[in-house]
Amino acid sequence: MPLPPSASAPGARRKVCVVGAGYVGLTAAACLSHLGHQVACVEADPWKLDQLRRGVVPIHEPGLAELVAAGTSAGTLEFFGQTAPALHDAGVAFLCVGTPPQPTGVPNLGHLAAAAREVAAAAVSDVIVVVKSTVPPGSCEAIELVCAEHATPGVTISVASSPEFLRESSAVEDFLAPDRVVVGAEDPEIGRAVASLYPAGCPVVLTDRRGAELVKYAANTLLAIKVSFANEVAGLCDALGTDASTVLRGVGLDHRLGTAFLGPGTGYGGSCLPKDVAGFRAVGDALGTPTLLAEAAERQNERARQRVVGKLRLILGTLAGKRVAVLGVAFKAGTDDTRDSPGLDIAAQLSEAGATVRVHDPLARTATAGQVASIAEALADADAMVVTTPAPDYRDLAPTEVAATMEGRTVIDAAGVLDLDAFSGAGLSVYGIGRGLPTEFPAIVWPPLRWAHPAPADA
Ligand SMILES: NC(=O)c1ccc[n+]([C@@H]2O[C@H](COP(=O)([O-])OP(=O)(O)OC[C@H]3O[C@@H](n4cnc5c(N)ncnc54)[C@H](O)[C@@H]3O)[C@@H](O)[C@H]2O)c1
Repeated sequence: MPLPPSASAPGARRKVCVVGAGYVGLTAAACLSHLGHQVACVEADPWKLDQLRRGVVPIHEPGLAELVAAGTSAGTLEFFGQTAPALHDAGVAFLCVGTPPQPTGVPNLGHLAAAAREVAAAAVSDVIVVVKSTVPPGSCEAIELVCAEHATPGVTISVASSPEFLRESSAVEDFLAPDRVVVGAEDPEIGRAVASLYPAGCPVVLTDRRGAELVKYAANTLLAIKVSFANEVAGLCDALGTDASTVLRGVGLDHRLGTAFLGPGTGYGGSCLPKDVAGFRAVGDALGTPTLLAEAAERQNERARQRVVGKLRLILGTLAGKRVAVLGVAFKAGTDDTRDSPGLDIAAQLSEAGATVRVHDPLARTATAGQVASIAEALADADAMVVTTPAPDYRDLAPTEVAATMEGRTVIDAAGVLDLDAFSGAGLSVYGIGRGLPTEFPAIVWPPLRWAHPAPADA
């Protein structure tokens, strides 16, 4: 992937500290060092820290290992286990720690509060703390109070919000060429100082902290609503016997709507969309402002996963005793992240219904029950195959080899990646999402129009 060159003018080189070396923090640290800043990255997990110090990038993210290697060999990117030596004389500290979901929908802000305390206690001169983690509106104000409580007298810690919008599997590209950078600060000078750390030339939205925090929740909730709406249309297409991909393309080519996130499938998953929709709802509940669309998106998302299992049950008659191969257990193609993965959920629902499930993923290497190393192992003697992500390995599957390896003939392409004609030609029965159910298309009567044949009962 060709990377944009360092966009910062030489005079703009700044010393920054990044707390947390996960998907967001490590990407931010490596990209900020690529942009010409001097970056000290703190990671609390001893295993991750050890990997990073030995030059091993512990997550799969295209282009990231190269940037980390370039930064560490140039001395512009260093890794620390403690905040104090990393913060040293840095004027800015990005907080990129996890804000995991809780059953209430409100994310757990404990890691963030701890990171803020550590930065405040370590600061020997004024620092701008930038919260990149996704948090409910109002959090930055609370973090500023935490910092004030733990800072050395005379040291001022100002807190700004700058939510991160990168997508796993294209994190580096997204950070270096973002659609927009959002910065929330009560003091516009601090807002501009934070914005100047990012790649030059990208659109910048400057607002207050609550506004910036809400941008992130609102953006992810709207994406989730789009995904769920697409699956709502797909449900109608299944019942109507028409093709959802084509219908949704017809919808999305309207430039006001757009085709992105508007395809049929297994719904949204991962560490962000489910958590942020739940967070958005929790904000609405706390403020007494109902978030009805977000609630509907969540319910439709659950149904999207259930519909895959239901379709397989309908085709096979029963799931009990059937052997099913589930291909794709990362939450999407191109990542190894299995947090809130639709594929894993589908595999769990199939097992619960009595099926024996073997799962495969080209990148995810988590200890998942029934996970096998090769597609062939997953398919061996299987009664059915379910493809849940559009990973290239699945797109390239040879229909004749699949047919020869499987025992049964049933394929559910929930990712919309297989060539239907080629798979049918190999003797397999392929079903998709929103491509019709294996039942007869019911005649519908819209008075005064009627189906001529078969005649409606009341004709
Ligand atoms: N993953 C994404 O695609 C993505 C995108 C946009 C925003 N976000 C948000 O960014 C935040 C981070 O997400 P992530 O996926 O990078 O999480 P992650 O779990 O991959 O990484 C967080 C890292 O922070 C480390 N950490 C925790 N407390 C620490 C401390 N006090 N000092 C040093 N290190 C500490 C953890 O060990 C971990 O490595 C979350 O709020 C998330 O919602 C994530």
